[in-house]
Amino acid sequence: MVESTGSLPQQGSSWEEIREALESAGRDDVDWRDARTAVYVFNPGDDVMQVAKQAYGMYQSENGLGMAAFPSIREMEADVVSCGLRLLNGPDEAVGNMTSGGTESIILAVKACRDSARAAGRDVLGARIVVPRSAHPAFDKAAAYLSLEVVRVPVAEDFTADVAAMDRAIDDRTIMLVGSAPCFPYGVVDAIPELGRLAEAHDLWLHVDACVGGYFAPFARMNGVELPDFDFSIPGVNSMSADLHKYGYAAKGASTVFHRTAEQRDFQSFVFDDWPAGGMSTPTVAGTRPGGAFASAWAVMHYLGVEGYREKAKRVCDTREKLMRAIDAIPGLHTFGDPRLGLFAYGADDANVFAIWGALKAKGWFTGVITEPQGIQLMLSPAHAEVADEYVSDLEQALEQVRGGTVGVPEGEKPRYA
Ligand SMILES: Cc1ncc(COP(=O)(O)O)c(C=O)c1O
Repeated sequence: MVESTGSLPQQGSSWEEIREALESAGRDDVDWRDARTAVYVFNPGDDVMQVAKQAYGMYQSENGLGMAAFPSIREMEADVVSCGLRLLNGPDEAVGNMTSGGTESIILAVKACRDSARAAGRDVLGARIVVPRSAHPAFDKAAAYLSLEVVRVPVAEDFTADVAAMDRAIDDRTIMLVGSAPCFPYGVVDAIPELGRLAEAHDLWLHVDACVGGYFAPFARMNGVELPDFDFSIPGVNSMSADLHKYGYAAKGASTVFHRTAEQRDFQSFVFDDWPAGGMSTPTVAGTRPGGAFASAWAVMHYLGVEGYREKAKRVCDTREKLMRAIDAIPGLHTFGDPRLGLFAYGADDANVFAIWGALKAKGWFTGVITEPQGIQLMLSPAHAEVADEYVSDLEQALEQVRGGTVGVPEGEKPRYA
């Protein structure tokens, strides 16, 4: 058996031994293959995962840094970006790039906004991004990297962005507004049309974070789910982020960032030629860009097509509705807000919800948590359709255990996002 010893073994091992070691390394990981995990991973079914994996393997060594060497990668990126922009009502002039994930997409959008504000003569050191409190911390990470500040504005009672309060938070240092479609904590979509009007009125850059919804909400809408407009159809929207490795079902390491115009995107890129090995122009943070991630995303998109994504979106939405109905029917539990996509959260009136989370974890379920208000959060995959009933019955038992005082908040295990 191959073991990690912390130093490189003198002799290598066979693939058979390595494979066994890898399998056994995952023995304490969450059980996501059997759909008992509802955060971090997306399980669209074995066939889709096979396509993602095989395509990744076929292009695992190709490098998107050198597009002149790999026109294949250039074409895949262009095709994925074009598919994404069509889904999100991008105008003809809109452009985009594939990135390594939602965080990178957001950092790039923030950088483009900052540098375009600087080009317009603004003093951008410590300039502000006004976001709903529910926005992803990737904006704070971007701000920390780019010497900006984030102003988090409490959400409205329905957990969506409080647009009037965001309006009041705008000052002469503000350069960007953000809305989410949907936000991570509650799964609700912010009022992007209103945010668009606000952005236009103050001449601010509006970024829509559709990392979760970008490759889900368009299909849910085709299936009849009612959602306000949230994409480039709103004139005030400058940029969007949409993750392929979430509801796009691609292998990890794939997202898209979109800009309304190529001029905007110019502020995202890094251009340099003052060294001895020739000019370099890169549109993203990464130098080397993994060919496998491009191929996997491209392959899954073409494997599923619109109909495939619609079918997955329907399964997820049906499962979410079923779970929300069942949870709301349990006395003492209630869901939060009106989420309509694949993500929702619920809380408890008279029991410690983190203790319930722990009791469910002991039964093999791993989900997210929220802290304002305290709750359990689930980001559902198509595979959860098969286990929804089991989850509800385990939840009923967990609630009884907590109420009966037989389980408490897991010792030394404060639930956290990351
Ligand atoms: C709404 C939202 N935005 C951004 C991100 C960041 O994405 P990533 O983890 O791919 O960097 C996430 C991750 O869950 C998210 O839910």
